Amino acid sequence: MLDTGFSDSRLPHEGVLAILAPSDGAPSALYTQVDAATGGALSRAARAADFSFAAKASCVVLAPGAGLERVVLVGLGPREGIDARVAEQAGGSVVSALGKVTARAAVVLDTLPGDLAAHVALGAVLGAYRFDSYRTIWREGEAWKLEGLEFLSIDAPGATAAWAGLSAVARGVLLCRDLVNEPANMLRPDTFEARITKLRDLGVEVEVLDREAMHALGFGALLGVGQGSSVPPRTVIMRWNGGTEGEAPVAFIGKGVTFDSGGISIKPAAGMEEMKTDMGGAAAVVGTIAALAGRKARVNAVGVVGLVENMLSGDAQRPGDVVRTASGQTIEVLNTDAEGRLVLADVLWYAQDRFKPRFMVDLATLTGAIVVSLGTERAGLFSNDDALAQQLATTGEGVGDRLWRMPMCASYLELLRSDIADLKNIGGRAGGSITAAKFLECFVNKVPWAHLDIAGTAFANKASACVPKGATGFGVRLLDALVREHYEG
Ligand code: BES
Ligand code: MN
Ligand code: ZN
Repeated sequence: MLDTGFSDSRLPHEGVLAILAPSDGAPSALYTQVDAATGGALSRAARAADFSFAAKASCVVLAPGAGLERVVLVGLGPREGIDARVAEQAGGSVVSALGKVTARAAVVLDTLPGDLAAHVALGAVLGAYRFDSYRTIWREGEAWKLEGLEFLSIDAPGATAAWAGLSAVARGVLLCRDLVNEPANMLRPDTFEARITKLRDLGVEVEVLDREAMHALGFGALLGVGQGSSVPPRTVIMRWNGGTEGEAPVAFIGKGVTFDSGGISIKPAAGMEEMKTDMGGAAAVVGTIAALAGRKARVNAVGVVGLVENMLSGDAQRPGDVVRTASGQTIEVLNTDAEGRLVLADVLWYAQDRFKPRFMVDLATLTGAIVVSLGTERAGLFSNDDALAQQLATTGEGVGDRLWRMPMCASYLELLRSDIADLKNIGGRAGGSITAAKFLECFVNKVPWAHLDIAGTAFANKASACVPKGATGFGVRLLDALVREHYEG
């Protein structure tokens, strides 16, 4: 993670500098000082580039004088519009302008209060993330250089205090991204379990249900998905007990299919590599628990993830097989590629039955149909509880993990009736993400519950300000903020 520090605003005399400022009102005091020290080089360059500190705009000034190598001007837009999201965006702009040119730089934030300064740091840290441990050959100018930023703030103590919580959230997001970006040969159910076990260092209790334990609990649906892989599945339970003893926990459930080949109902070759990300829901749960533990959230939280690899072999599940779930309900598996709902059927049932949570939120890269419905801008939100759905939708807007609520009418359930079992695992092409959600609801047992279908949002094929190309970390900031805003203390 990018190294960050906050100190009092003072004029730097060398190296690389970024200056963030709004587009209206009195200019930043340090901007004015640097401009004067460089004989007006900054304002001349800004005029020449038609740069006026509009939001999302930036302007690079090379060798302006006064011993500075380079100054990047970054716009914050109109003063009254500057919120946490604008601050994060600006932090992202700083690192995209400087990431490949310098190891260290100072960032002038003398127009922002301490809490917004911390959000600039958050945007910078999230935007500076790279997954490059497997790359050994770099072309000229391609390698990432930036290691640290010093933020010059008018309220360094306030910024430092705000950053204490935000940095734990950032670490959770980066952990989630690392897990999702990891190729499926490197992250299988056993190695994924080992990565989760490391959360013990943060004070998280980690418990593992192996194949035998899950067999004893009757996890026939989850075990059926995993039976074609040479690495047996597991369910991993994480507990962060930061709340009052005996208080019911909040529960987060994740689909952790470390690779989804489709099984015997095999997927087409084109794009199959993206199915290494089919554990994005589980990764978001792990990242969330890491964030809550990292900032010592005053809440009892449990995370439960089903880790399985959906593969083909002589032992793989067949289309037409019938499995019995932990709830007792039976499922006719008509398509082995609709495996996420089979995994979640057992894990959701188990989580509510054992932990009696205040609510459950599950995250899953569940359906291609949600990508057709909502694209990559928003995840699908399905819920049996209007209050929980509203909290999630509103919190999501604030942190940028955006959701859109989808219908859950009873009539969709009719599409899942099987001829020989209680349910079949596919409901047809039409409304595919809704029938998938209705399927999950059969295993929720009336607990307030929300399901987030993140198939379109867990992975980005193009970069944006605070999210480089690849895994996004979607869900971590959302669930952390949900707890902070509604369920803590
Ligand atoms: N993991 C996929 C869904 C997915 C698609 C995730 C695209 C990310 C990007 C899921 O297991 C799946 O294969 N779903 C099928 C369900 C169908 C067989 C009913 C789908 O969406 O096609
Ligand atoms: Mn599938
Ligand atoms: Zn899948």
